[in-house]
Formats: sequence, structure tokens, C-alpha cells
Amino acid sequence: METIIFGIALLTKFNWDRFLPCDFDPERDMVDLHGKVAVVTGANTGIGFATARHLARKGARVYLACRNERKANEAIQELEKDEKVAQNGEIRFVQLDLADFASAKRASAEILAKEERLDILVNNASLLVSEKPKYIHGILDYMAVNHFGPFMFTQALLPLLKKTSLLPESDVRIVFVSSDAHLRVPQDIRFRNLEDVNVDYTSMPLDYYSRACKYANVLYAKELQRRLDKENSRISVLSLHPGNVNTFADATPCPRLSNLLMPWIFMSPDVGSYTTLFAAASPLVKEQPEVFKGAYLGPIAKLGKASDNAEREDLGGELWDTTESVLKRIDAGELD
Ligand SMILES: NC(=O)c1ccc[n+]([C@@H]2O[C@H](COP(=O)([O-])OP(=O)(O)OC[C@H]3O[C@@H](n4cnc5c(N)ncnc54)[C@H](OP(=O)(O)O)[C@@H]3O)[C@@H](O)[C@H]2O)c1
Repeated sequence: METIIFGIALLTKFNWDRFLPCDFDPERDMVDLHGKVAVVTGANTGIGFATARHLARKGARVYLACRNERKANEAIQELEKDEKVAQNGEIRFVQLDLADFASAKRASAEILAKEERLDILVNNASLLVSEKPKYIHGILDYMAVNHFGPFMFTQALLPLLKKTSLLPESDVRIVFVSSDAHLRVPQDIRFRNLEDVNVDYTSMPLDYYSRACKYANVLYAKELQRRLDKENSRISVLSLHPGNVNTFADATPCPRLSNLLMPWIFMSPDVGSYTTLFAAASPLVKEQPEVFKGAYLGPIAKLGKASDNAEREDLGGELWDTTESVLKRIDAGELD
């Protein structure tokens, strides 16, 4: 019975994104990336893996920032078998567990020590399914992994991203892979303090992660863009919904049914990476800063519309201040 209800929900709840029109071709519609450096988090699988492959095919040195070294090495082996990756790009691994803030600090320090430049940062990794809410330093795990970790990682890499943006012909991008789930947060959502951060929205049916963390991705991206703009920075910060992508069938309550249905209604991970690739390397983003700086994109590789709440400067500032103050309390040993 549960399987039948789940099957009906799967067929009706999700858009049939597999049939969305797509005129984006990564080979044709991305800038040349030879000499450029990119970091993609959660790149051992799914959308992140496909993103890393296309960036490397265009010539970038791509760091797979992954929590599991074995999985990352398997991904590297597969990527290196790709003729265009082998000819043009370079793949490296950096260990990053966004649930472990010390690891996020080590990973950023390693990149800062090894690289003279960083052109593209794709915050793609995400905790998708948690059996029951857990807390990391007192923060709900979805928010810790999907917002606090990426915040910390991005802020630590910002000096190198800024330095790169001063180079002639630079085109630095910071990308947050969010979700249209952010559209469905309650209108009165706030981030005044840790209690607000820890409100759990996962009880709603077919909601695999707390939508608030995906909302936080969009809010943070827009606030970061505003702060960079005030410094007259040329860096572009974008957030996006990749579409419904066939990456999590095994993690649903009915994996056999999902494995059967999802390829028919969801995009493949390769096509699922196109919106991220547009954000990271379409020439249009640099050519039209008034359109794309701070923009939210949707599938497939198009301008989207973030929720009105996500445009609110007061909420962006509130999220930023609370994130900083919670991270300071963690550093001071006040939250275990
Ligand atoms: N698939 C969709 O329909 C869809 C829709 C909307 C948004 N998105 C977003 O797209 C992004 C990519 O998701 P996906 O669909 O490609 O899922 P996926 O295939 O499950 O990939 C998720 C990645 O995140 C990594 N990850 C999880 N927890 C981590 C942690 N603590 N530290 C570092 N890495 C961690 C995973 O590593 P392991 O392999 O080690 O677990 C994996 O590499 C996510 O931000 C997701 O929210 C996806």
C-alpha cells in the first residue's frame, strides 16, 4: 500500500523535468577553462560528479572536495578515463566533510596553500536524508552540513577568490546548488538565533531534507553578492535549482519503485548539472552582470525566480549575523 501511495506521489508531485526544453550544450556554451582552478563539493557522485567532468573537459584543474577518500578516488579513476578530461583538465582530491567544521577549515587551508588562484567554487554537496534529526555543535544537521559548513568553507576561500578577481580578464564565480524546495518555507521564517536555525521542516511528506537549509543557500548567496558589490568586487554569486534529477532513488522509502520510475520523469545527473555549469562557466554571466550577479537559476540553465523572502536584505543580514555568531561560539568552545 505504502508503495502504491509513494508511486502516485512520485508521479504527480514532481515536475516531469526530463522533458524540459534544453538548449544548453556544455561543450558549446561554456567558456574555455584552461589555466583556471575550480572546486566542486560533493563531486564524487551525482550532479557534482557531472559538473566536475564538464569543467575538466573545458580545461580546468578541478578539486573534488569530498568527505570519503575511497569514493573520491573511484570518481577520479572514472574521470581520468574520459578522453576529454585526460586531454584538457586535471582532477585533484581534497578531503572535506561539511559535518566536521575542522575538516572544512583544513580543506580550505589546503587549497589556499596549493593554489595561486581560484576561479570557480561550486557549493554542491548536501545532506539529503537524515534518519532522525541530529545536532552538530547544537545545530540541526541539515543546517550544519548544508548551510554552516558551506558558509565556513566559502568565507575561508574568499581571500583567494577575491585575489583572482583582480587579475586581468578574471571571471570568478561562486555557485550554490540550492533547490526549489526553498520556495516552500513558511513566510514567517526567521534566523534571529540558534532556535530559529534549528526549526525542523522535515515532517512534511516527500520532503527529504529540511527546506530551510536550501532557502538559506539562496539567502546567503544573495547577501554575499550584496556585500561583494559594496566592495566593487567583480565576483558573481549565483544560486540555483538544478531540476529534479535522478540521484536519490536508493534513498527513498521505496527504492525499487523509485529506480523504476525516476529515470522516466527525472533528468539524468549529466543534464542535471547543466544549470550549475551555466552558473559556473557560461559567458553570459560575465557579459550581463546586471542580470546574473546574485541571480537564481532554474532548469535547464535558465534564469529562475527565487522566493520573495529570499530577496529580503533584512533576512539575509539576519542569517549572516546569526551564522557568524554561532560559529564564533563554536570556536570559543561554547557549543559542543
Ligand atoms: N537530485 C535532485 O533532484 C535535486 C533537486 C534539487 C536540488 N538538488 C541539490 O543538488 C545537489 C547535489 O545533489 P545530488 O542530487 O547530486 O545528490 P547526491 O548524488 O546524493 O550527491 C550529494 C553529494 O553530497 C555529498 N555529501 C553529503 N554529505 C556531505 C558532507 N557532510 N560533507 C561533504 N560532502 C557531503 C555526498 O557525499 P557521499 O557520496 O560521501 O555521501 C555526495 O557527494 C545538492 O545540493 C542537492 O540538494 C538535487
